[in-house]
Amino acid sequence: APVLAGRDFLSNLDMTAAELRTVLDTAHSMRRGEWRNVKPLAGLSLALVFEKASLRTRTTFDVGMYQLGGHAITLSNTEIGLGTRERVSDVARNLERWVDGVMGRVYLQQTLHELADHASIPVINGLSDMLHPAQLLADYQTIEGEFGPDLRGRRVVYIGDGNNLANSHIHMGILTGTDVTVVTPVGYEPNAGVLMDAVRAGVGVTLTHDLAAVEGADVLYTDVWISMGQEAEADIRRRAFRGYQVTPEMLETTAPHGIFLHCLPAHYGEETVPEATEHPKSRVFDQAENRLHAQKALLYHLMGGMTPRW
Ligand code: CP
Ligand code: NVA
Repeated sequence: APVLAGRDFLSNLDMTAAELRTVLDTAHSMRRGEWRNVKPLAGLSLALVFEKASLRTRTTFDVGMYQLGGHAITLSNTEIGLGTRERVSDVARNLERWVDGVMGRVYLQQTLHELADHASIPVINGLSDMLHPAQLLADYQTIEGEFGPDLRGRRVVYIGDGNNLANSHIHMGILTGTDVTVVTPVGYEPNAGVLMDAVRAGVGVTLTHDLAAVEGADVLYTDVWISMGQEAEADIRRRAFRGYQVTPEMLETTAPHGIFLHCLPAHYGEETVPEATEHPKSRVFDQAENRLHAQKALLYHLMGGMTPRW
């Protein structure tokens, strides 16, 4: 039965560890093909609201809704003008009259909270400046596929920018007991509020500027140095991050069974190189595949109990 019925998913911490366990178990079962021909979202619709570009998020939420028997409608910001053509609160109060859930890919996390505050239907974070929780569901499905469901003490090393991905990694450390290390240049550390979440949970996070922290990692993870919306800082950032590139040589220093993950898209020549994507330790395309399974599991648990309104 759905365990998140009617809730929002704006952060990984919107789930308990037990609920995450259930969602990931569902995701694994979906990956195995056990939900073929099951249509728990028949008659339900999801609006996909995009302030920025997307390949994986857009495709997997759309195909995921279809496979579960529901429908998705994609709304780009040139169409709806969130906060410019129309107030976010009014957009929310329109959408809730027609659809059964909203996924938002937005600049400000605050925009998602505003949507959620004004819409009675589930709101899902499809990436904000601060967090990318749907991505991390797929990432941990991939990590569990490699190491099994008990990840306590596994070393997850995130290297690069202390951005939305780094922040969500810290949240997953809180939920799963992985030992999270974030390696950044000075001045690019993760969000202070997210670090406080770890403090409040009594969970340690290692922050360092030292590349040697990669050594022995079970999972090495990186993401772009210049996120969507930061293009004006590109030159400063490329200089600041020099040396933090994931190369095949760096991958060789991870644990013998270590794996390499990247949420994609990759900016080759910056945070990584094509040879790392092609490396035997790379799981980046399994990870991309799991966006579909993990989000279908999420959609089922958020929306599976809803009655079609027509
Ligand atoms: N990883 C990810 O969210 O990809 P897109 O930006 O293409 O959706
Ligand atoms: N940190 C990147 C992730 C893209 C999926 C960005 O926000 O652009």
